[in-house]
Amino acid sequence: MIIAPKVRGFICTTAHPVGCAENVAQMVGYAKSCPGAAEGPRRALVIGASGGYGLSSRIAAAFCYGASTIGVSLERPGAGQKTGTAGFYNNRAFEKLAAEAGLIAHSVNGDAFSESVKAETVALIKNKLPGGKVDLVVYSIAAPRRTHPVTGEVFSSVIKPVGAPFTGSTIQVLSGEMSEVTIEPATEGEIAGTVAVMGGEDWLLWMEALGEAGVLAHGVTSVAYSYIGPELTHAIYRGGTMGRAKDDLDQKAAQIASIVAPIGGRAFVSVNKALVTQASSAIPVVPLYISLLYRIMKRNGTHEGCTEQMVRMLQRIYPEREGELTPAIDQAGRLRMDDWEMNPKVQREISELWGKISPETLPELADAEGYRKDFFRLFGFEVPGVDYGADVPEPLI
Ligand code: NAI
Repeated sequence: MIIAPKVRGFICTTAHPVGCAENVAQMVGYAKSCPGAAEGPRRALVIGASGGYGLSSRIAAAFCYGASTIGVSLERPGAGQKTGTAGFYNNRAFEKLAAEAGLIAHSVNGDAFSESVKAETVALIKNKLPGGKVDLVVYSIAAPRRTHPVTGEVFSSVIKPVGAPFTGSTIQVLSGEMSEVTIEPATEGEIAGTVAVMGGEDWLLWMEALGEAGVLAHGVTSVAYSYIGPELTHAIYRGGTMGRAKDDLDQKAAQIASIVAPIGGRAFVSVNKALVTQASSAIPVVPLYISLLYRIMKRNGTHEGCTEQMVRMLQRIYPEREGELTPAIDQAGRLRMDDWEMNPKVQREISELWGKISPETLPELADAEGYRKDFFRLFGFEVPGVDYGADVPEPLI
């Protein structure tokens, strides 16, 4: 079977198993070249581990620190002529490389929002991880909907402004064409739905379940991911429904910190850089912003992909020397991994370019090609070294 990309809107409905495996191998190669401090994570649980920031967190914990890992995600294997999801292939590639490196790695494929997946994960920690506990819990779920484990209510997440309509420019991933989008403000129900899916309630439920089961190690660290971004994306992101969800995440971080305090633990939110992932491709305007950002940060030599970010984040969380974490924490107690993105010089340059951007100037001013390539790579396409004309044998599908 020859597998080609099939893009629908902001998602690719096919994934290439060999390309995904090669992607993971390259990320693992980078992590291996950055050994972490001796006092790093040894047993990590990553919730949302099959793509984007979660996959890179797992790779960094395992291959920089030698951590045993459990990854939770919701992915689909291939069936007949239908390929599996990229995350399914990523998990498989990760497990293979971990086994080759002698690292313990187990994956749970199911709905992280459910009580049954939490119970299955607790059992795995008890039975498969050294000492039956975890010392790092990463929460990196990005989902379109959530079934509440107690009420059964189904909530949907939307990306909309709050209070007033929003009009702005965005680019089509496949064609690189620019277009204008207008989005009506969210209703109260949509805001509440987005908070229920992308806010911190499920992270809190996970930490409560892990705590009650006695599988949190003394000194456990838990981290969940957030985004703030510049004024340009404020109306659609931080000032919109997603921002409400991220405010909720900040509140829950404080609650979780007090739950783990008696066992010497800590919990915080890490504000990460805007990067091309399946989740961020769905946000209008952000692809155009990322294209401008990529061009500037690549030119400045400060560009990072998910794995570079997560390696640097763990270096801050587990510093070589005591106290190195402190300067990177903002007044709200958040770890600021977006420091290079939010550098005032970088942001000033983006604001200046924003007014000049048009279909004609796009190729010159923005790295739309870099955006497009990263998008396809998420699904295992356009990965250097992979022969896409070659037949993919059945067991790989
Ligand atoms: P992603 O789409 O690459 O990965 C999402 C993960 O969640 C996947 O592993 C997927 O399998 C898992 N997942 C989704 N629904 C699930 C369910 N019901 N049960 C189990 N697993 C499920 O997303 P990305 O971009 O890595 O986002 C992760 C976090 O990072 C989010 O909180 C996002 O807001 C945040 N973030 C993302 C940024 C970006 O630019 N991509 C920037 C800063 C923060």
